[in-house]
Amino acid sequence: MGKGYYISKHLATAAMVLATIALVTIIALSVVYNREKSKNTAKFSNATTSPVFPTPKTSNEPWDKYRLPDTLSPQYNMTLWPRLVKNANEMYIFTGISRVMFTCVKKTDLILSHSNKKTKKKHSYFNKKTSNLKCNAGNSVNVNLRLFTLNYTTETQYLVIQLEGKLKPGKDYWLYTEFTGKLADDLEGFYRSEYMEDGGKSEKIIAITQMQATYARKAFPCFDEPGMKAVFHIPLIHDLGTTALSNSQEIKNVIIDGMAITRTIFGPIKRTSTNLIAFVVSDFTYINAKDKKGVRIWARKRAIEDGQGDYALNITQPILEVNSYPPVFLDQIALPDFNSGAMENWGLVTYRETALLYDPRTSANGNKQRIVTVVSHELAHMWFRNLVTVKWWNDLGLNEGFASYVEYLGADYAEPTWNMKDQIILYDLQRAFAVDSLSSSHPLSRKEEEVNTPSEMSEMFNTISYSKGAAVLKMLSEFLTEPVFSKGLSVRFTNYLKQFAFGSSVHLDLWLHLQKVGVKLLYSVHKIMKRWILQMGFPVVTIDTRTGNVSQKHFLLETEAVVDRKSEFNYEWFVPIKWMKKGQVQDQLWLLQKSAIHKPMKVSKNEWVLANLHVLGYFRVNYDLGNWDRLLSQLESNHQVIPVVNRTQILDDAFNLARASIINITLALRTTKYLLHEQEYIPWEAALHDLNYFFQLFDRSEVYGAMQAYLKKQVKPLSEYFGTISSNWTTVPSGHTDQFTQIIALSIVCSTGVEGCRELTSSWLKKWMQNPPNNEIHPNLRSTVYCMFQKATVAAEAVKLRSALACTKVPWLLNRYLEYIMNPEKICKQDATSTIGYIASNIIGQPLAWDFVRANWDYIFKLYGTGSFTFSRLISDLKRFQKDNAETGFGSGTQIKWLEEKKEAILQWFLSESA
Ligand SMILES: *[C@@H]1O[C@H](CO)[C@@H](O)[C@H](O)[C@H]1NC(C)=O
Ligand SMILES: *[C@@H]1O[C@H](CO)[C@@H](O)[C@H](O)[C@H]1NC(C)=O
Ligand SMILES: *[C@@H]1O[C@H](CO)[C@@H](O)[C@H](O)[C@H]1NC(C)=O
Ligand SMILES: *[C@@H]1O[C@H](CO)[C@@H](O)[C@H](O)[C@H]1NC(C)=O
Ligand SMILES: *[C@@H]1O[C@H](CO)[C@@H](O)[C@H](O)[C@H]1NC(C)=O
Ligand SMILES: *[C@@H]1O[C@H](CO)[C@@H](O)[C@H](O)[C@H]1NC(C)=O
Ligand SMILES: *[C@@H]1O[C@H](CO)[C@@H](O)[C@H](O)[C@H]1NC(C)=O
Ligand SMILES: [Zn+2]
Repeated sequence: MGKGYYISKHLATAAMVLATIALVTIIALSVVYNREKSKNTAKFSNATTSPVFPTPKTSNEPWDKYRLPDTLSPQYNMTLWPRLVKNANEMYIFTGISRVMFTCVKKTDLILSHSNKKTKKKHSYFNKKTSNLKCNAGNSVNVNLRLFTLNYTTETQYLVIQLEGKLKPGKDYWLYTEFTGKLADDLEGFYRSEYMEDGGKSEKIIAITQMQATYARKAFPCFDEPGMKAVFHIPLIHDLGTTALSNSQEIKNVIIDGMAITRTIFGPIKRTSTNLIAFVVSDFTYINAKDKKGVRIWARKRAIEDGQGDYALNITQPILEVNSYPPVFLDQIALPDFNSGAMENWGLVTYRETALLYDPRTSANGNKQRIVTVVSHELAHMWFRNLVTVKWWNDLGLNEGFASYVEYLGADYAEPTWNMKDQIILYDLQRAFAVDSLSSSHPLSRKEEEVNTPSEMSEMFNTISYSKGAAVLKMLSEFLTEPVFSKGLSVRFTNYLKQFAFGSSVHLDLWLHLQKVGVKLLYSVHKIMKRWILQMGFPVVTIDTRTGNVSQKHFLLETEAVVDRKSEFNYEWFVPIKWMKKGQVQDQLWLLQKSAIHKPMKVSKNEWVLANLHVLGYFRVNYDLGNWDRLLSQLESNHQVIPVVNRTQILDDAFNLARASIINITLALRTTKYLLHEQEYIPWEAALHDLNYFFQLFDRSEVYGAMQAYLKKQVKPLSEYFGTISSNWTTVPSGHTDQFTQIIALSIVCSTGVEGCRELTSSWLKKWMQNPPNNEIHPNLRSTVYCMFQKATVAAEAVKLRSALACTKVPWLLNRYLEYIMNPEKICKQDATSTIGYIASNIIGQPLAWDFVRANWDYIFKLYGTGSFTFSRLISDLKRFQKDNAETGFGSGTQIKWLEEKKEAILQWFLSESA
């Protein structure tokens, strides 16, 4: 709390109702009673209705269109006052007074601003007597712009003000509104969150925001489009004893005499989009670094006192250096109830607790890695989104892809020994491949007119945007080279960012600027990139080393899939191929047509070719059988000749080519033979992911046992190695990724029934149950070890418990666990979708989760609605799943058919290899 000024109660009240401006509307915002968490009275519905998403109307009226007209350009001044105690009607509310100034750009008699008002309640009226707009800053000329009508539209979410006269271009006008909104606990707009402090003794309430994608309109009336950037002044009124934070720095804090409230005034928020506005009122505390006082980490008092913010503070500085974005001021805050992982609001980045807080006693090194990558991702957004914004949500993939790529560079700089740059293969590239190889995929950049409604916007926050975006930008950065790429983007080099700073842009501008930096390419960056971002999917490149023929084909997992989406490029790409011939890196080549002969790729009988080195490109590679054979022999005899990342990709390509019936499944299985010698994390993780597919499908069949036996044999050297260096799993190795490999080793060892494993882990568990505060199980190993539910006080702990619980294969336990989702006291709201996800990732759990979602659709939709990105992602996955499997119901028809055909070959292979 700052040093207070005192102003009298009288003045404060006057300030709150400073109604000098004529047009007065009082709006009840977001009075959506059913969104309130109804603690004990929730009625669960058995309805089996499907999700209904609004379809855009075809009316020509401006208020029936989802996009604002370009007639006005706004500036906001408003005061908001959240009440952290219930009012007489047992409701939490906030009140606001707003003065929007807008400059008229085109003549109009219509003021459209977004306002999420779902019910027309009695609070809404306007004062006809004084219904004039004030014109021109400074001199109050009455231009006789009487209000004609004031309406709301529910579908397009507008406040529609029609005037009797026209606004004139070049003139400024003010719109004055007073409003009351509900401070619900629905995780969107301006909302409240409750948490327990002092070991569960006292309940605290904080007021926080999440404006993205379209919830700013739920907090205040505004021009809620990312391209409608504006300057904001938002002072907050709040109780004494609480702190208010916003996007810009506090200027002063005025205690309002006699009312136990205070008014915090912040500096103006520079031109920004409504979806990046944030404010928080809480009793949180912070830490900062001695030399960088403006960079602060905020959290619950207990967490800060425990030192849980220290790690985030430590890594923020190096990450800012990489981004070459040196803010004088940056707050990062950990929130107990927050839907997305994090949100990159200008100057006030909000995080889930697990994405910012690290407690060495309970958090695993995986939690630490999550913190460094999430912080790095959000800070990358500070300039690529916040400073330079895409004009509309259809280009979101560019922003998210950029941050998802740069997050590895920042994390690598902050933790140089962690091998972060390679992990993009696992966490983005292969993830993107999985989704983008389905016929139901979509292009990275959609057409502007394809993205209209709020749920279509939320659906843009999907794997394609994040992971394909990252993979494609990484490829671009690789063929331009990283220095050219960063030069093209960097503020210091004046180009892209400087030109578009505080404005908005589309992808074409980015390519043009990268082009200017200059690398010689056969085609322009634009020509190359549009094939990757405007058409869905990616190619499989086939190299025939007998002839040197190189060809490409759209890679689709389902062999019989029909792609109904047309592409102007005919599903052909300009493919940059880095490759090597037996130990020697060759000149990069470009595959620009469907197929071509590249003589150097023709090799003699004892050489091998490996393409897509280091997985720099976003495509899969197939070879002629002879080359496959020579590659695999190399892997088996001396795998280290082929570095880690390349090994990983050979494995993953082979499995997916087999699933698409392009190569023989036994060839894919053969890529796992060398794992006997493998000690690196990335190939093991990829291999397990690929094998897991079989585990899931063959569960409860005779193949399962043979697979188990094979894997048990393959993991033996690894588990012996880790068992020894960790003194029977009681310590953890020092290397960061070695710690991950240790977890993998332990979990395979236990799941394949290696002797002693279960005894070991259950003895740990028993010890822990006897004396819960004293948990000797290393945090890294806990999820592997426990399969039960306990109240946990540390957020990261709770996540492990949730995922561990979902690992049980007993249906009634899973069902009971699903039921917990209906009870926000058992599973907090932000965690509901990930919990469903955990359960659905378990073969027994999949149909249960699906039935559960269908059976409880009404309740779940009401509770989690379009509000959450993760939720809409889950729904779009479910919808796609439904589409892909329309004929066969649950379980993919193609998969099952494929499996039936291959089952015998797979069984025989495992039997012979595990002997
Ligand atoms: C579902 O419906 C059945 C029978 O109509 C009822 O017994 C059951 O309690 C309902 N379940 C829920 C969760 O409402
Ligand atoms: C908004 O408030 C600031 C600070 O009080 C003031 O300087 C500015 O002129 C106001 N702008 C408008 C449009 O009212
Ligand atoms: C607004 O309301 C008035 C009166 O209720 C109605 O006549 C008019 O058509 C409405 N306009 C819009 C834009 O919905
Ligand atoms: C943060 O950095 C300090 C100084 O380098 C170090 O002593 C401390 O262990 C670090 N804390 C964490 C949690 O990494
Ligand atoms: C694998 O990728 C790396 C890139 O890190 C490259 O330098 C190396 O030559 C490749 N090795 C082989 C054998 O392909
Ligand atoms: C796959 O390979 C195995 C052994 O290499 C062979 O016996 C089998 O016929 C092949 N299957 C197909 C479909 O090519
Ligand atoms: C590990 O455990 C095994 C079996 O319990 C025991 O034989 C061995 O001596 C232990 N090794 C170490 C290093 O503690
Ligand atoms: Zn992001």
